[in-house]
Amino acid sequence: MAPVSETSTESGATAVASLQTQLTDAIGDAIAVAYPAQSGADPLIRPSDHADRQANAALALAKKVGANPREVATRVTEQIAVGDVVEQVEISGPGFLNLTLTDAALWRQVEARRVGDRLGVPAVATGVRTVIDYSGPNIAKEMHVGHLRSSVIGDALARILTFLGSDVVRQNHLGDWGTQFGMLIQYIDEHPEKPWRHTEITATDADGENASTVSALDALYKAARAVFDTDPEFADRARARVVALQAGDEATLATWQEIVKESQYAFDEVYERLGVQLTEADSAGESFYNDMLDDVAAELEAAGLAVVSDGALVVLSDEVTGPDDEPVALMVRKRDGGYGYDATDLATIRYRIRDLGADRILYLVDSRQALHFRLVFEAARRAGWLDPERVQALHVPFGSVLGPDGKPFKTRSGGTVRLMNLLDDAVAAALTVVREGAEAKGTEVGEETLNLIAEQAGIGAVKYADLSGSRVKDYVFDVARMTAFNGNTGVYLQYAHTRMVSILRRAAERGLTVPERVPAAVDTPLETAERDLILTLDAFADVLAEVAVDLEPHRLAGYLYELSRVFTDFYEACPVLASEGAVRDRRLAIVDLTRRTLAKGLDLLGIAAPERM
Ligand code: ARG
Repeated sequence: MAPVSETSTESGATAVASLQTQLTDAIGDAIAVAYPAQSGADPLIRPSDHADRQANAALALAKKVGANPREVATRVTEQIAVGDVVEQVEISGPGFLNLTLTDAALWRQVEARRVGDRLGVPAVATGVRTVIDYSGPNIAKEMHVGHLRSSVIGDALARILTFLGSDVVRQNHLGDWGTQFGMLIQYIDEHPEKPWRHTEITATDADGENASTVSALDALYKAARAVFDTDPEFADRARARVVALQAGDEATLATWQEIVKESQYAFDEVYERLGVQLTEADSAGESFYNDMLDDVAAELEAAGLAVVSDGALVVLSDEVTGPDDEPVALMVRKRDGGYGYDATDLATIRYRIRDLGADRILYLVDSRQALHFRLVFEAARRAGWLDPERVQALHVPFGSVLGPDGKPFKTRSGGTVRLMNLLDDAVAAALTVVREGAEAKGTEVGEETLNLIAEQAGIGAVKYADLSGSRVKDYVFDVARMTAFNGNTGVYLQYAHTRMVSILRRAAERGLTVPERVPAAVDTPLETAERDLILTLDAFADVLAEVAVDLEPHRLAGYLYELSRVFTDFYEACPVLASEGAVRDRRLAIVDLTRRTLAKGLDLLGIAAPERM
């Protein structure tokens, strides 16, 4: 068995098979020899309190072959090749196999993972084109917490899948089209004195908060709505403007384009601050599909899939019925001839498969839109666009962000909470925490540095809080808890990173560098805390591969938290700078690999890894 596979990756580094995989193969082979009829059974390699790992398969095997579990365990053990990877096998309890690994096998993993910048992670998603639809804010409207989740989770998945070799196409499905813009444009034209362009906005908005072009546009839209409801003449002019917009009237389109551009400007500010890697090049808003809508409707109608009902063109679901037991309808074309959200998403999925060549399409949209996507996917399958054998279309849902009262997050007046204000709150809380930390340690930190660290810590805290829970769960937005130094927080992970940096920095100050190759320190056996840390480090690639399958970034978050905790135990048990010779070398190598793994993991979550805090 070759522990290090020879698949070389782009960076010239080598993909490394994890010990988990090596053990699964080795014990699996032993099972196949001992019980040929059971070959292929999962040896169930798990962490163990008594050894490096344990194999739990004997109990289930015993049932299958009708023997006593300890007997089965003994027979399997006899077939395990002891030496290269496995040092010792002990049968414990009802038939668990306690596995001790050789120091050489453990150390081989460290050395292999230290080479190159991939940390031995294989590019398992190579050749897969993944379209990720995320963020999707609405033009002329403030981004809300739902867009925060979509942006943060979507970006983490985009980063992780890219690292795993997938060809990722980011798509920002902006809500940039609809009849509401006719009214807004008419109002803007009639009120040139009201500022909304980012160059015009200097003051603060109604709440006294920092204004942005989208908050200004949001306010103008509300004002327009109020006039629309009370002034029939304005209502007529607004309706005419909708017609002009749809007919492509030049002046109307020009204003619409400017509204889109200004909104994008505001969104970009949020992305920039959040470290979300979306740019204007990734924007393909609803309007992008306008030209395709007639054709999509015609295709669906010709296929007999879309039918006229009450003057509207609809696709009736084969799978879902409403409360009245009637099939639920997807609206292809409204009675007035207009197209909406449903039609756009039909054109979108067709485009992503036919034109973008997607193998996998991920829609990062909150769980309340589950039915919408179910219907869109069903229609796309029936239309023959989406062949489930070849293309995977997935709604990747997430829960809501709740306020301190446990109810969906709203401002006191019931409005949407501005994302920027939330981020400001988190950064302010982080500033208090890092200032106190610096004071407690007695370190002199300049105000500018402090603010920079607080920004990284506050933003990291918000993102980590969002990413560390299972996606579909709601969570409470609680800045005090998010920015705590202790517990499962972004700040805790960032702080762990700074400690690793500081060990390496102090080593360098003493002229100690981490040697490029560290021979296995066979003279001094690896200590338990070293073994635990090496085993944890070795699991990085397996965790990423899991995230690629179930699209749950919280697995990576949980892994990094575990890594930081195991590192703390290691650091308490195993002096680094106070040790000597080969032991010091190998511990420096372990600290270095841990730091790089943590930094890479944080980067894949889109979280900064500061050098100091
Ligand atoms: N603009 C939508 C919203 O704010 C999200 C768009 C999601 N993507 C899609 N293809 N429908 O709810």
